[in-house]
Amino acid sequence: MNATAVIIIAIAAAVVLGALAFITLARRTDVRGAGALSAETTKRDRVARAAATSAAESNTSRAADVEAAGVAARVEGGLAPVQHDSGLTAWVPPDPDALGVSRRQFFNRATISLMAAGLGTFGAASFVAFLWPTKVGGFGSKVSVGRFDDIVAGIRAGNGFFYAPEARAWITEYPVDAIPKAEGLYASSLIPGLEQGLIASYQKCPHLGCRVPQCLSSQWFECGCHGSQYNRVGEKKGGPAPRGMDHFPLEFSVAGDVTVNTGIIVRGQPIGTNTTGQEAEGPHCVGISEH
Ligand code: FES
Repeated sequence: MNATAVIIIAIAAAVVLGALAFITLARRTDVRGAGALSAETTKRDRVARAAATSAAESNTSRAADVEAAGVAARVEGGLAPVQHDSGLTAWVPPDPDALGVSRRQFFNRATISLMAAGLGTFGAASFVAFLWPTKVGGFGSKVSVGRFDDIVAGIRAGNGFFYAPEARAWITEYPVDAIPKAEGLYASSLIPGLEQGLIASYQKCPHLGCRVPQCLSSQWFECGCHGSQYNRVGEKKGGPAPRGMDHFPLEFSVAGDVTVNTGIIVRGQPIGTNTTGQEAEGPHCVGISEH
């Protein structure tokens, strides 16, 4: 699974979790779930509330009777009834639901809010990272390595080897008269490079990944880690490596610029491939091994 797929999945997960958190936050606490009262408790509360209401109504009724009796007694005694005009508003008990949140509600909502904020931040960061332009031109993409003439001159100046550090590749000459043998063996993406007389080999040894250096005396590549050897175009000649050196396709512009496409790693040729027939041209740099 590549990085893009991981980011897309992370964003989708963040959106879903964020939506769940939002829905949960938006729900009132009189629903089932954390902080909700059981049916039994709710029923008991309802009965208690009804009893309290009944008692209050009863008290009010009794008080009204007493007051009426008092007024009647004052009238019978020739006294004027007391006028109750205090200008005060009768006290009404507040609705518990309107008083605000309980401690449990506060912690529930705080937890969900923090979780939603965290997920939202993560989702936003992932989204921005996904949209942010990635570096182009580095290893893993198309790497410009200079003009064709300069590369050929560099190969000759390097006694047969030109190293392109940004592409992590060696560029060497491929003998044009060997192309008929290469066709059908080499990947089609490498053929344009071969037809221009060049081949790019990945510096990473197919055995265990050491950087493979050139050996100027033998005119081969010889790995110092375990002794794998490859001819100048990367075909395996000896050592424990399971195949030849991997390659990158080369691209050529009309203006003469050369690009190594390090986004495509072409698997090295199987053991026994020998299209150029190049034997060692001098002493080896590492001990030759029979594999
Ligand atoms: S890593 Fe090159 S021979 Fe083992």
